[in-house]
Order: sequence, then C-alpha cells, then structure tokens
Amino acid sequence: MSKSRSSEWYGGTDRNTYLHRAWMRRGLPAHAFDGRPHIAIANTASDLNPCNSHFDEIAASVKEGVYEAGGIPLNLPVVSLGETQVRPTAMLWRNMAAMAVEELLRANPVDGVVLLGACDKTIPSLLMGAASVDLPAVFIPGGPMLTGTFRGQVLGCGTDVWRLSEEVRADAVSQEFFVESESSMIRSRGHCNTMGTASSMTMVTEALGMTRPGIAGIPAPDSRLLEASHATGRLAVEMVEKDRRPSTILTAGSFRNAIVTLAAVGGSTNAVVHLLAIAGRLGITLSLDDFDRIGAGVPRLVDLQPAGRYLMEDLYRAGGLLAVLNQVKDLLDPDAITVTGRPLVEYLNGQQIWDEAVIAPRDRPFQEDAGIAVLRGNLAPSGAIIKPAAASPHLLRHTGRAVVFDTIEDMHARIDDPDLEVDADSVLVLRGCGPKGYPGMPEVANMPLPKKLLEQGVRDMVRVCDGRMSGTAYGTVVLHVAPEAAAGGPLGLVRDGDEILLDVPARRIDLLVAPEELAGRHPNARTTEGYAAPLRGWERLYVDHVLQADTGVDLDFLVGSSGSKVSRESH
Ligand code: FES
Repeated sequence: MSKSRSSEWYGGTDRNTYLHRAWMRRGLPAHAFDGRPHIAIANTASDLNPCNSHFDEIAASVKEGVYEAGGIPLNLPVVSLGETQVRPTAMLWRNMAAMAVEELLRANPVDGVVLLGACDKTIPSLLMGAASVDLPAVFIPGGPMLTGTFRGQVLGCGTDVWRLSEEVRADAVSQEFFVESESSMIRSRGHCNTMGTASSMTMVTEALGMTRPGIAGIPAPDSRLLEASHATGRLAVEMVEKDRRPSTILTAGSFRNAIVTLAAVGGSTNAVVHLLAIAGRLGITLSLDDFDRIGAGVPRLVDLQPAGRYLMEDLYRAGGLLAVLNQVKDLLDPDAITVTGRPLVEYLNGQQIWDEAVIAPRDRPFQEDAGIAVLRGNLAPSGAIIKPAAASPHLLRHTGRAVVFDTIEDMHARIDDPDLEVDADSVLVLRGCGPKGYPGMPEVANMPLPKKLLEQGVRDMVRVCDGRMSGTAYGTVVLHVAPEAAAGGPLGLVRDGDEILLDVPARRIDLLVAPEELAGRHPNARTTEGYAAPLRGWERLYVDHVLQADTGVDLDFLVGSSGSKVSRESH
C-alpha cells in the first residue's frame, strides 16, 4: 500500500510518532499504522439538530465499509446546525462550521473523509470545508423524512407550516387544528421532505458528483440508505488510493450540472448562495448570471412542494434524481465525473420514470423555463433573484407603491396594523436583513401578508428583501438584493409610496424615482433595532468580513483553497 498522509504522523520510531500512535492504540491495533488509509467520518449527528439525529447509525455502516476495504474509520464530530432551532439564524454560522471542518481535517492525521450532512447548512458547510482542504471526500445525504399526514391531509414540513399559519391569520383554519397538527408534521428521522433547501442541496450535491450516484433522496429510514452508506465507506478508501480529490470532481462542468438540476427539480433559492460559496473555495468562476444563463431554459420536471404537490418520498418512489436527470441529459456536461471516477451521465442510462404525476417527461414539463431568474436594476445593482416557479404568474410583471420596513422587528410590529397604508398592489420592502445588516441573512424575505389583506382573500404580493427565503416557502419574493441596505445598497433609499417596478421577463427590479431625488436622500441602514448586544466574537468577525449575496456570503479570507499540508509538529 502506498504511503499515506496519515503516515506523516504515524510512520517512524521517534518520540513524536510514538506519541501519535500510543494515544490512538486506545482502540486501534498495531497494524492500523502500517500506511493504510485513515478515513474521517465528519459527523453532524446532534440531538439539537433533529434532521441529523440519525447519523450515528449511518456512521456505523460507513465504518463497516471502510474496514471491509482495508481502511481505518474515525468518527469526527463537527459543528451541526439545526435550521429550526438556532438563533438568530443558522446562516450566521454556516461559514464558522465550514471553517471548523476545514481546520479539523487539516489538523488531524486523516487521508480522506466521508461527509454526513442533512439539515440545510450542514450540507454546504461540509462541502466548503472539504473543498478548501482538498482531501479525497465523499458526501452521504441523511435523506428526507417520511410524508406526514394529519386528519386525512398530507403535511409537507416547512411549506405547510407557512400555509397553515397564514390560514389561521385569515381565520380559515382554527388555532386548535394548527397546534394539533404539529405532532404529525415530523413523521420520522430525516430532513424536510419538501423541495426545500436540504432536499435541493442533496440533489445538487449528487449532480456535482460528490455522492455515489443514486443516493440522493433515499428516505432517511429506508434500509437502502444504510446499504449505500456501507458502499460509500468502501468507496472512500478507493478514493484515497486513487487520489480522487474534490478539485478533480468539482469543475465548471459539474457546477453546470448542479444548476441544471436545481432548475429541473424546482429547487431552493438558497442553493444559489451555497453553490457560489463552494465554487469560490476552489477558484471556479461562477457568477450569479450563470444561474440565469444555464438554468433559465430548463423545464421543471418535478412536482414537489413548495412549487407543486408531492414530497420527497414520492420523488424517490417515482424514480429519483437519476430519472429526472435522464430527461435533461443533453443539457449536462458529459465529462463531469463523480466520486466513482466515472461521469455522472453514465449513470443515467435506462433510468425510468415510474410515476409521471411526480416526475414529468421532458416533453410534458410541469413548467417551462423553471430556473432562478437574476434581476438587476437601480434597486439591485449587483443583482437579486426570484424563483418564478414559486411566484404568482400575474405578479411577474408588476408596478406598485412601496411599504417599507426597516427591520424584521419593525415589520412584525406594523404588518397587521389596521391603519397600515397597504393594498393588494403594494410592494412590501424589508431591509436590514442582509449578511451584515441582520447579521446573518435570515430566511425572512417571504414576510407574512397584512392580516386585513388576507381577510380580503389576497394570498400573494410582491415582496423585496435583502435577506433570504426558506426553500420551503413560496410567493412572489425578490430576495438576496445586493448590495444590502446595511452595505450602502439603494434598498436603503426606498421610502413609503415610492413606485417599484418588477419585470421578471425583462429581468428588472427598479425604483421609479428620479436620480436627482435619490441623490438627495440619506440611506436608512438601521440594522439592529431590538438587538441590543454589542457585536463580539464570531458575529464581530462575520460582520467585518462577510461578502454580499451575489458572491456567496462567504468570509473574504475563506475564499480559495489552502490544501491539506501542515508543516509543523505539535511537540
Ligand atoms: Fe432541517 Fe428543514 S429544518 S432540513
């Protein structure tokens, strides 16, 4: 067996190699140090992250696979972020988690890594860290939870929380129904079962080539996930032996495949910032405009909530991601390889659709041109995005008067005020929610509609925000406006009553106010009303260094790769 990276720690007879070996003899036999691959299992299992709570079982299957292939598996707990639990927003910590993954992999005597991620931020943080350290790495998605049902209704987690809470506010559903349904929302282990951020990131991770083809979307409780995890453990050993690193898999072609996939499945807008950040770690030129250029003409072939009706269990039953990608094979890069060393497109041959209600054939899509649209204009000079698949068609070309909220607290305090000057044609503007302004760019862009309009039957309005939107949410929402108000963006200049033009077909978002009038205005960049604590620690570092949405919201000093070399010993 060829000399491994871990041999730099263990190979020799001096004091330092003694130290490294002796402490690891607590469990490992002498032959573990003969040069065979040491495989870290970057494990995001956590009781405070319910979507990832089953990863210890998956890690056990990975370990068996690694041992079977002649490697040494090593459990490596890493930062885990539960999207629904972490305050003020899990996105504030994505880069911290990525930085910890990178540093832990570099610092430790490992030759390769199996990445276990599921809940929204755990997927990009693992991929970003692994890309920067560039050791052989393969990803195992934790899989979606099973379909929930309540009183005869299917419940899609996330999407139906938003829907039911709006129905309660409109007095269309009782408070008792709403509260009782919570026991049925999360039916099993696994991540959200809608085509939200976790499902979308799972799909694009497989499209990037970073998983064994066919694993994305296997439900978390499905025994086939354990079998695939065992096989992934074996594969990790092979990847080390073949020196198959993220930098050989993640290429411009694989990002093209990810963008096509995101459109074909009707995926989350959050995948845009995550893919930009992952590409940035590898020095791959990927811009916001690539999402429109590559994805705009791709049809939506999957009918999952929030854009459609079904849930992830249905997608897997209907043929899964490979059946979807087989329909758009001609749009994929034929040379982009996967962790197996073989091109993704090779795995698509013969992949069938088993239920055309869930996966549509290419000639009968659920929606033409389903990609994410990138908007520009004097309101978003660096860009903003909208997901037309989740928007109301009649609002895609719209002009309305702004109703402006300076912070999320301001919005909550006034949105249901009967005296708020707002009608169905108004454009709701929420600022102070970007990477620096919040800080952390929370999922608040799909702000609730004013109660008085809900009672009139209004179910969607144009909303504009410098924050993000949950991947499980829906509506005509312009988000990721860059630069954000707190970074001096023109969103900070909008006043109540200003006219805003949204023209998605023309890719425009404009503030219809004369330039000379705007030049005389002072930006409103109030950011932290109701947020009294002075910034320190991670938040301080984050606010000082975070980049804007159009480049992926990474920290400026984390862009790029540092490799796996460590030149100094610890003693
Ligand atoms: Fe974890 Fe939705 S809350 S994936």
